[in-house]
Amino acid sequence: ATYTVGLIVGSASEPSLNRRYADALARFGEEAGLDFHDIPIGALPFFGTQFEQEFPPVGADFKKEVDGVDALLLVTPEYNRSIPAVLKNAIDWASRPVGENSFPDKPAAVTGASKGDISTAVAQHELKAILVGQGAVVLGAPEVYIHVEEGFFTDDGAIADADTAEFLRGFLKRFHEHIRRNLT
Ligand code: FNR
Repeated sequence: ATYTVGLIVGSASEPSLNRRYADALARFGEEAGLDFHDIPIGALPFFGTQFEQEFPPVGADFKKEVDGVDALLLVTPEYNRSIPAVLKNAIDWASRPVGENSFPDKPAAVTGASKGDISTAVAQHELKAILVGQGAVVLGAPEVYIHVEEGFFTDDGAIADADTAEFLRGFLKRFHEHIRRNLT
């Protein structure tokens, strides 16, 4: 079966390294049986409880997209050893209003790219904990910390290194299996 996967890039950067990485990764979607749909988060205002009284269209539309896909793939940078505020904000929106949390039982996976030595390990660890806390069913392994150096991408935006490409294909294959087992 082919599953629909909401692709959330946790960055407001233009251009964004993680956007680039997410686009390269999504090229392996078809062969893995994953149909990726971008779910943008940049237009969401900072969440506040006033929005729970009357949920604005921008938030309702975002939640509709999250609720409409079989699973979520979150691609996050690491900002100051955590996830960027824009991503945390989107998660806060998806978790509300009370009683309408979009995460329970949702299959999800996490990855991220950085030029830093330990890549996005700390941010991803935290992100997984946040998602598990909201009831998402998060793929634990493989851990996919992408360390980007000069030449990581080809000129047309693909993953240059064959072993890295193979590893990422395996990751998506495993994610497909995870969705199959956990989709309710
Ligand atoms: C960073 N960067 C960074 N990198 C890292 O590996 N660990 C970190 O804790 C941080 N901290 C951090 C804080 C802030 C405020 C910024 C702007 C950047 C560097 C980061 O990995 C780099 O800017 C990437 O390009 C960010 O990904 P996007 O936003 O381009 O997708």
